Amino acid sequence: MNHVAVIGLGRIGLPTALVLEKSGFQVIGIDTDESRLNAIKTKALHIDEPDIRSLFKASKISVSNQPTAADIFLICVPTPLTQEKKADLSHLQSAIAMIQPFLTKENLVIIESTCPIGTTDEIASHFPGVYFAYCPERVMPGKLLKELIECDRTIGGVDQKATEKAIEFYSRFCRGSLHKTQAKMAEAVKLAENAYRDVNVALANELSMFARRIGLSDQELIALANCHPRVDILKPGPGVGGHCIPIDPEFLIEAFPKETTLLQAARVVNEQKRIWVEEEIEKGIRQHRCQTIALFGLTYKANISDFRHSPALAIYENLKEKYHVIPIDPFYPEGVPIQNGIKQAEMVVGLVAHDAFRVLDKNSLNGKIILDYAEVFG
Ligand SMILES: NC(=O)c1ccc[n+]([C@@H]2O[C@H](COP(=O)([O-])OP(=O)(O)OC[C@H]3O[C@@H](n4cnc5c(N)ncnc54)[C@H](O)[C@@H]3O)[C@@H](O)[C@H]2O)c1
Repeated sequence: MNHVAVIGLGRIGLPTALVLEKSGFQVIGIDTDESRLNAIKTKALHIDEPDIRSLFKASKISVSNQPTAADIFLICVPTPLTQEKKADLSHLQSAIAMIQPFLTKENLVIIESTCPIGTTDEIASHFPGVYFAYCPERVMPGKLLKELIECDRTIGGVDQKATEKAIEFYSRFCRGSLHKTQAKMAEAVKLAENAYRDVNVALANELSMFARRIGLSDQELIALANCHPRVDILKPGPGVGGHCIPIDPEFLIEAFPKETTLLQAARVVNEQKRIWVEEEIEKGIRQHRCQTIALFGLTYKANISDFRHSPALAIYENLKEKYHVIPIDPFYPEGVPIQNGIKQAEMVVGLVAHDAFRVLDKNSLNGKIILDYAEVFG
């Protein structure tokens, strides 16, 4: 069980392939995106994560658009939503179709892509004799390599033998605890984790909206409430973004429309928060007759270069249609340097609190209209 084919070389697949190679596996990386394959072949890295550069540079990993025979197939392809907010499993289905000619009895197929409950069992039912397991990823951008190895994992096979084989595989490179379960449970656990995050952020976002509506500081409200020994409210922001939290609860909502009232409400609140922030900014622009606005932070969260489903980026894109908006973000290719942006703007708006903004000279904000939705300006 030494030869692993990693299918999908994105933010999860490529770092996993590198870690596996370093742990002594013989690894081939498969992707359908030729430009990604060419970039990897020419040692151009598309992921910005601590410590990944040296691992990537030292790697001798081979990549291809076609799988070969392997002992283990590890599937890390995207599972986005359709326009109708249904789970789009087309990448997963085409990945399975692609490896099908190479699958033999005793092979182990592990799905890491986030899936609706029951997906692994359903796929496995078409391949008798092949071991199938599901193991979701818990990594956070910015800590990806560390968490890939150190996080506990929930590993569920479609039967006990598949679970054991998958546990044996992960034990060769993971240091976190490996929790045995069934495939369905492992799929449900992943969705429950991101539903938890979405609901908790929604609470912070809702508290923030009504506090601000009556002129209270949301920051102070939450800090004081958190002095209670059993209260731990998260920080609010301009909504919820990223490739997981706004997507994964929808898999549960689609499957269980009657049993997910809270999850549906959380989705509405977090979507609404972005619109609310945008309206507040526009209100400020009109009230103070501002011509130029500087937006601080456009990624979906602080200190990472990920813009997927970023509410801050959506706010920027909408506002720039109507106003002169200066983007200030160290990760945004057209980002304007902090002091240049401040000099030109009459209004400054905090959306994402990157550490890079800590150097900001507070005196340079004198005379500016300040709106802050993410504790950017203190
Ligand atoms: N990025 C994260 O931090 C994270 C965390 C937890 C779970 N996940 C889940 O992991 C899965 C992968 O996410 P990601 O962030 O790595 O996605 P990504 O978009 O960064 O990368 C996916 C890769 O798969 C390739 N691909 C698409 N269809 C393919 C196919 N049929 N065969 C081979 N390659 C194919 C794409 O070209 C791309 O390179 C998703 O289900 C996601 O929800 C991601």
